[in-house]
Amino acid sequence: MSSLVVPCNGEGNMKRWVKMIRLIGGLCLVTLLGIAYVSYLCHNSLCLAPERSNLSPRYSVISSSSSSRSEILSSPTSMVKLIGGFPSKVNIESVAFEDAYDMGFDITSRDVIVFLHIQKTGGTTFGRHLVRDLNLENPCNCPRKRKRCDCFRPNTVNEQWLFSRYSTGWKCGLHADWTELTDCVEGALDEYEGSSRKRRLYFFITVLRDPIHRYLSEFRHVQRGATWKSARHWCGGQEFTSLPHCYKGSNWTGVELDEFMNCSYNLAHNRQTRMLADLTLAGCYTGYNTTADQLERDRILLQSAKQNLASMAYFGLTEEQATSQYIFERTFHLDFANPFDQANATLSAQAIAELTPAQIERVRQLNSLDNELLEFARHLLQERFKMLKRRDPHFRRNWFRVIHPHKSERTTETH
Ligand SMILES: *[C@@H]1O[C@H](CO)[C@@H](O)[C@H](O)[C@H]1NC(C)=O
Ligand SMILES: *[C@@H]1O[C@H](CO)[C@@H](O)[C@H](O)[C@H]1NC(C)=O
Ligand SMILES: *[C@@H]1O[C@H](CO)[C@@H](O)[C@H](O)[C@H]1NC(C)=O
Ligand SMILES: *[C@@H]1O[C@H](CO)[C@@H](O)[C@H](O)[C@H]1NC(C)=O
Repeated sequence: MSSLVVPCNGEGNMKRWVKMIRLIGGLCLVTLLGIAYVSYLCHNSLCLAPERSNLSPRYSVISSSSSSRSEILSSPTSMVKLIGGFPSKVNIESVAFEDAYDMGFDITSRDVIVFLHIQKTGGTTFGRHLVRDLNLENPCNCPRKRKRCDCFRPNTVNEQWLFSRYSTGWKCGLHADWTELTDCVEGALDEYEGSSRKRRLYFFITVLRDPIHRYLSEFRHVQRGATWKSARHWCGGQEFTSLPHCYKGSNWTGVELDEFMNCSYNLAHNRQTRMLADLTLAGCYTGYNTTADQLERDRILLQSAKQNLASMAYFGLTEEQATSQYIFERTFHLDFANPFDQANATLSAQAIAELTPAQIERVRQLNSLDNELLEFARHLLQERFKMLKRRDPHFRRNWFRVIHPHKSERTTETH
């Protein structure tokens, strides 16, 4: 049940070839759609200036005549210069959803799952599921009295297949974002393993949440004293250490919502969009509290965040635990031993009921990019769910297991 290795017999190879050919056809289609998409963007005046055409999809496909997994990879990208002129060079290989589904996740090879953990999205719970709950032949080793687990590939003692808070720790900085992770993860793993002999294949995953609930949750966390001040804010080859703080002193304990919202450079605003976007396209953190270029910057960030999200191997939504769990299990061909819990929505609803209509409206405005991003994500999640459901010959059984975990255990015992 938990074997991750694709069978190597003749029949398996044949099937694989057919799959590959289909995949390559699909990829050509995707490329064409990508071109159409870019012309659409140009239509919307996003790429009037010649260098802006660099917003075109950054993940391209290198085809070769071999049927190796390396056929499907994202190529090193070109240098990109946009608003701030920060160089961007993503030169790791990452796997998008469709390819992840087709190839599966090979724990014995060079595949690595990278969890991009955005604050207050339920990522802590999800991160624990990843290290403690997956039905693997070699589960992560989680010693008691230690916060982290070792998720080593079978027969290795230092090769983690999971890059996350509860496995490797915050090796790329506290709550590292897309910009930081894509720049850092390869080097961080080389350092961890003490060598850089092999190229890895990255499966990026994340969890998103309703922007208003997430924002209020972050606000309450900050009100209780959280600052995340050790975050690196690495972007375009440099660390932005002196971003202005919204608070005086060492933290913002006791802050009221109106004051929290008043801080124009509060990183809580549109956090999900910012953390998923390639910040080098929009000047990194410079001019963060100026209104100049704000609209242009917003548009670039949102566009980039959507593109990066769609290019990830997986994402889940906090409000859709069952669907998210099912999509993870079918994408990676791995099951969780314990189901994802749907948090009590009544509590969030109560928190919102305590706000004035004006405050709710303000929260919405401050997170308008995240609102659009989430709309896009909800739609994409449903599409993926439908696609996986259609291709799943055991949908009823698999879905039942997700929504009624304990009953399904009894059913599987009778097999
Ligand atoms: C927040 O700052 C106050 C004073 O500035 C300090 O007394 C308190 O311990 C700090 N709380 C946290 C959680 O750091
Ligand atoms: C927030 O900003 C508005 C307008 O600048 C101001 O009137 C209000 O007093 C501020 N509220 C807080 C709590 O700082
Ligand atoms: C942003 O605002 C803060 C606080 O007003 C100020 O100290 C800082 O210099 C500003 N930074 C930029 C880049 O404008
Ligand atoms: C959710 O929380 C509310 C308020 O605390 C409680 O009344 C309700 O029973 C809870 N629902 C569930 C399903 O736990």
